[in-house]
Amino acid sequence: MPYQFQTIIEPFRIHSVEPLRMTSAEERRAAIREAGYNLFNLHASDVLIDLLTDSGTGAMSKDQWAAIQHGDESYAGSPSWYVFLEAVQELFPFRHVIPTHQGRAAEKILFAVLGGPGKVVPNNTHFDTTRANVEFTSAEAVDLVIPEGREPAVLHPFKGNMDLGALERLLAEHAGNVPVVMVTLTNNSGGGQPVSLENLRGVRALCERFGVPLFLDACRFAENAWFIREREPGQAGRDVKEIVREMAALADGMTMSAKKDPFGNIGGWLAMNDDQLAEQCRNLLILTEGFPTYGGLAGRDLEAIAQGLREAVQPDYLRYRIRSTAYLGQALHAAGVPVVLPIGGHAVYIDARSLLPRIAPLQYPGQSLAVALYEAGGIRGVEIGTVMFGRRPDGTEEPAAMDLVRLAIPRRTYTQSHIDYVIEVVSAVAADAGTLPGYRMVQEPPTLRHFTARFQPI
Ligand code: F0G
Repeated sequence: MPYQFQTIIEPFRIHSVEPLRMTSAEERRAAIREAGYNLFNLHASDVLIDLLTDSGTGAMSKDQWAAIQHGDESYAGSPSWYVFLEAVQELFPFRHVIPTHQGRAAEKILFAVLGGPGKVVPNNTHFDTTRANVEFTSAEAVDLVIPEGREPAVLHPFKGNMDLGALERLLAEHAGNVPVVMVTLTNNSGGGQPVSLENLRGVRALCERFGVPLFLDACRFAENAWFIREREPGQAGRDVKEIVREMAALADGMTMSAKKDPFGNIGGWLAMNDDQLAEQCRNLLILTEGFPTYGGLAGRDLEAIAQGLREAVQPDYLRYRIRSTAYLGQALHAAGVPVVLPIGGHAVYIDARSLLPRIAPLQYPGQSLAVALYEAGGIRGVEIGTVMFGRRPDGTEEPAAMDLVRLAIPRRTYTQSHIDYVIEVVSAVAADAGTLPGYRMVQEPPTLRHFTARFQPI
């Protein structure tokens, strides 16, 4: 009998280290006060374990660093562009690939062409920049995730799925005014939850019936594909690349942040099959991002992303990635901390509204918990709730669907002992949850307020 071991092994060893700076609780209380109780305003050197985002914060492999040395910085037609294009089309064989400096630049270009007053864009759940880019054109962004996707404690294998009935009603009601249907893989704002192939096929069928293109917001495509392999009937053991290509084949295009699954520190792209749309997008690209063979990226970035894409779909890596995120989430769950279940791919989401029932949503329970985790242990997470989504385009404020604190796990960056420390800190703060204050916003910008707002404890 072969032995079966349970310990999660990081499928890499450390090649170059980044020292962490230890701080005292007193120093952290001063730093966060100075930052207006907004974790985005902290100096990163005052953070011990930075779980603000998994975006651009992953560790590159030695092969990616080697690829960087191959970077060719020719303005037009660089060999690095062709390396990038081939790696992208290997997984996402769309006719047109338009490189951008990050995901939101792809969104900005796409919605500048497709958005506008009177238009309605459905998504399972818009990420904040996606929503902002839709609304910036005066179009309406509508979230249509299945009802289970809005209930933190409800178990469902594909909680990121689109509500097909709701999508059908929206497409019928707004016929002629829906320029694109978006599906976010995995559903970041809804807990990093996957979308099934079956659901994507259902969305595709509706898009065909109503003559509307389907675009994937595919930042975490590899993690989504792994969940499909693990959870969807008939998909076990399938090659991850094949699953990815099947997802791509169901869509007409995609937006991408290469700062997530592709292991880039920067980068993104927009891709599609429609020639005319591609031409309109390329014309906008040249205005703000650059020539179509580099689009705001250095040749070396294109090389790093191409290599990262090859590593992102490797089964040993994905098995470790998904299991190590679940390790954190399950430990918190076992300690009685309410978390979004099942555990998502890139992050653990703490249900702050349920942990802090005394704090009303408009006093920002997620912000309160996020500040407390920093003060107690130097851990930086991010509020995904009423601070991020509570301000409506008409200026009114209302509670978001959920008040979560996301602990995002940078790829290949922290070890299991870092995560054990996080479990200890979160459990201690949760045990004292009754003592945490609510917050009020004392300074607020007109859009994407969570990035720069300032707060005071109540
Ligand atoms: N779509 C999704 C689902 C995202 O998670 C992000 C970024 C974007 C689009 C925009 O990409 O940052 O390259 O412009 N999410 C990061 C996060 C910032 O922390 O979740 P970008």
